[in-house]
Formats: sequence, C-alpha cells, structure tokens
Amino acid sequence: MSLAQRRILLGVSGGIAAYKSCELVRRLRDLDADVRVVMTESATHFVSATTFQALSGQSVRVSLWDAQAEAAMGHIELARWAERILIAPASADILARLAHGLADDLLTTLCLASAAPLYVAPAMNQQMWAHASVQTNVETLRQRGVHLLGPASGDQACGDVGNGRMLEAHELRDALAASFGDGSLAGLKVIVSAGPTYEDIDPVRFIGNRSSGRMGFAVAQAAALAGAQVTLVAGPVSLATPAGVTQRIDVRSAAQMHAEVLAAAAQADIYIAAAAVGDFRPNEVSAHKLKKTCDGAGLSLQLSENPDILASLSAQPTHPFLVGFAAETQDVASYAKQKLSRKGLDMIAANQVGEGLGFEAADNALSVYWADGSIDLPRVAKAELARQLITQVAQRYRASRAG
Ligand code: CTP
Repeated sequence: MSLAQRRILLGVSGGIAAYKSCELVRRLRDLDADVRVVMTESATHFVSATTFQALSGQSVRVSLWDAQAEAAMGHIELARWAERILIAPASADILARLAHGLADDLLTTLCLASAAPLYVAPAMNQQMWAHASVQTNVETLRQRGVHLLGPASGDQACGDVGNGRMLEAHELRDALAASFGDGSLAGLKVIVSAGPTYEDIDPVRFIGNRSSGRMGFAVAQAAALAGAQVTLVAGPVSLATPAGVTQRIDVRSAAQMHAEVLAAAAQADIYIAAAAVGDFRPNEVSAHKLKKTCDGAGLSLQLSENPDILASLSAQPTHPFLVGFAAETQDVASYAKQKLSRKGLDMIAANQVGEGLGFEAADNALSVYWADGSIDLPRVAKAELARQLITQVAQRYRASRAG
C-alpha cells in the first residue's frame, strides 16, 4: 500500500481524540504522503500546532485571517492542492457546520472550496453521537457523498462505553490509501445497477422494496476507483452520484432498468447487478387514483412477472462478465448458489437481510461464490466491502479471460 506523493489535507477539530491524529500524521508519512494540517481553534486547546508542524514537516494553519500564510499558499490554493480531505477527529460541532455549509473558519471554508473527496472520522461521547441532531447531520453529509470513517465502539475518554470512538490511526490511513484504488479494472467498462425498482399501481401508489441503493452506489464508486469506466443504472434513490462514475441513468421500473442495462451491456465488459429488481408488476396501471369502495370487498391486483435482466443477458451469445447479488432472509448459501447456476452468472455476492442487516444498514457482509470457489467478506462499512468485492471481481474477470 502506498500514498507516495498523495496530497492529504488533515483537518483536526476540537476533541480529545486529537491526540490520536498526531499518530495518524506519522502513519500517513510512513506511506510517503504529503500531509498538511489545518486545525480548528478548539483543536489547539487539545494539541498544539507546533506538534503537528514537527510531525508533518509543514507549517500548520488555524486561522483564515493569517496574512503571512495567505501570502504563501492561500486557502484557495490549499483547497485546490488537496487530493483528499480527512477530518479526524470530526467533532459534533464540525459535522453540524459542514452539514449546514458554514464557512466560519479556515477548515470549513476549505471544505467548501475544495473538489477533493471529503472523509470524516467522528469522535465524541456516545450520547452525543446518538443524538438525533448529530445523526441527522451525518445523514445529510452521507447523502452528499461525504465518506464516513467510523466511529468505532468501545471505551471512551470520558469513561463511557459505546459508539463514538475515533478509528485508530492505521485504520484511517488504510481507508485513505484504499480510496486511491489499485487500477485493477483499468481500461474496462462496467455497468452497475443499484437501488429498488418501483412498479406503479396508479399515479400515487407503487410496489417497491426496501433497497436503499447504498451498496450498489458503493460498488459503482469502488469500480470507478479501480479505474473502470462506470455506468450506474439507478432505481429511485436519493443518493448523490459517486465521484468518478462516468454516466448515471435513472430509472423507475424493472422494465426500464431491463431496457437501459441491455442497451449499455453491448459495450460493457462487466455487469454488476446490485439492484433489487421487482419481480412482478401490476398488469394494468390505473390512469387515476384507485378509490376505496368501502364495501369491505378488498382489492385484488393482477401481477405479471418482470423480465429477468441477468438471465436475459446470460442467454445472449456474447455478454459481459455477470455478477449477481442475492439478498436472502434464510439459507443464504444454498439460494445464492442456485441463482448462480439458474441465471448463468460468473459470480454472485450473497448477504443476509432482515433486522439491522442489509438494505438500510451502513455496513454489510457478503459471501461471494463462483463456479469453483467462494470467499467470505466479513461485516464492514459498505464502501470498504465494495472495494473488497471489486478486488474479487477483477481477479475472477482476469482469470476468466486468461483461461
Ligand atoms: N435480478 C435481475 N432481474 C430481475 C430480478 C433480479 O437481474 N427481474 C437480479 C438482481 O439484480 C440480483 C439477482 O438477480 O443481482 C438476484 O435477485 P433476487 O431478487 O435475489 O432474485 P430473484 O431471481 O428475483 O429470486 P427470488 O426473488 O425468488 O429470491
């Protein structure tokens, strides 16, 4: 793993975990990263700027109003210089300011002025972390494409035990290194489908499912980071297009997704089907809102089966390398292997869904199967899991083309 010459802007906000960020600068420099540290005013109450200056070998900035520093590398240049911004620790206060787009100090101004991907490593008391305000701010940032690293659970400096510990320095460093990708899909065209599909009943109602689209979006991002040219075909989700994705096509129904994926597949090397495609659609879509009859008779909907996108592709004489997903509530391995052979897939990534697992959770675990092998990818954040899955897909794809 290397971060050689990578330009990392480390933002340090006010929290006791700031002491761990000293170690983080050392670990980043071990991998030859070029690190500049920007502190909030509160952070200087925990660790001095001199400490970070000595560790990074660069002057440390705190204030937006430092005339001397602005004359050297101004804040806009610093914002442009950064390839990644990592805020560690990210306090509840800075998460709130970022979520509201404030630019009331140097660090928040840099975050607005920079196009670099933003990573935040929250660190705070477990009660604060659980607070609805903090969770809403975090969700806002996540929806905007900010990458959340942690927090972890465990003993806290305040004596509490719970969620809110900052990740360890080596974990943050590894996440940043991974974010630059390994080029394993360089030169390849990859289609990723993501999210649910909605099958309309009438102008106000539909049949949908609980897929959030997060896993598929993470897979699209990981494929882009691995150097692929990515087309993301997304069902109805409210997620920002991940950085590096070449094209996004928004669809609503399974039939639309089928048409878009088949059209794109002619040019593609790999299709990763992370979407939770609705299996059935109403035979008829009512032009007007269906009315209650109030006679206790109920309502029967006649449904017909949607086309199977993966099966349609595998039936074609030439088609991309096909990777399916299987979200199951029971007998995960056996259902997944059945789908692998029934749909004629090259690989399938299976996971258990249900209580706290799968669709709506921030992390996930996968078991990946192919004709003559399998691997378990244990539970981690979806972004990291997607990266590990892409590594597997790249390996199997190359092996299939070599053989
Ligand atoms: N899939 C597809 N087209 C469909 C339905 C599913 O391409 N019409 C893909 C999904 O994107 C996923 C895989 O098939 O990659 C498995 O989806 P899943 O819903 O688990 O499989 P089904 O075949 O629908 O089986 P079941 O609902 O009976 O579990």
